[in-house]
Amino acid sequence: MMYELIDFKTHGDYQGSLVALEKGEDFPFDIKRVYYIWGTKQNVVRGKHAHRKLEQVIVCTSGSCDFILDDGKERQTVHLDNPAQGLYIKHNIWREFTNFSQDCVVMVLASEHYDEADYIRNYDEFKKEISK
Ligand code: TYD
Repeated sequence: MMYELIDFKTHGDYQGSLVALEKGEDFPFDIKRVYYIWGTKQNVVRGKHAHRKLEQVIVCTSGSCDFILDDGKERQTVHLDNPAQGLYIKHNIWREFTNFSQDCVVMVLASEHYDEADYIRNYDEFKKEISK
């Protein structure tokens, strides 16, 4: 399985909706870093990398976008448009994200601090590493 979709517990009432993500049972790892992406220009393809160790849960908190995931054997596209759902990706998965709506905000919860050495930014290198 290249990914899991996590349905977050949502506290909805007459005012609207709220999701709280806390260390513990509802979340697959201890969060060390959060970053978010917005204002992405049309036709841009972001990502184009894999991680050697890092795990991530990705939430499209506004708008929509597509994640293309690749484990070296097959490719799958996941459409994200639900702030109450998280896309959980473990290590060694090549990812590209595209088709950003104008109002798209993507929040990423990461298991590690930022470390450029954890990135595999070349697809051929990715294929080589996962075949070891
Ligand atoms: P990059 O990972 O290339 O973005 P994407 O894969 O979404 O296209 O990151 C863009 C820039 O931001 C790059 O210079 C590294 C920097 N950056 C940080 O400094 N800290 C972070 O946590 C992340 C994710 C990126």
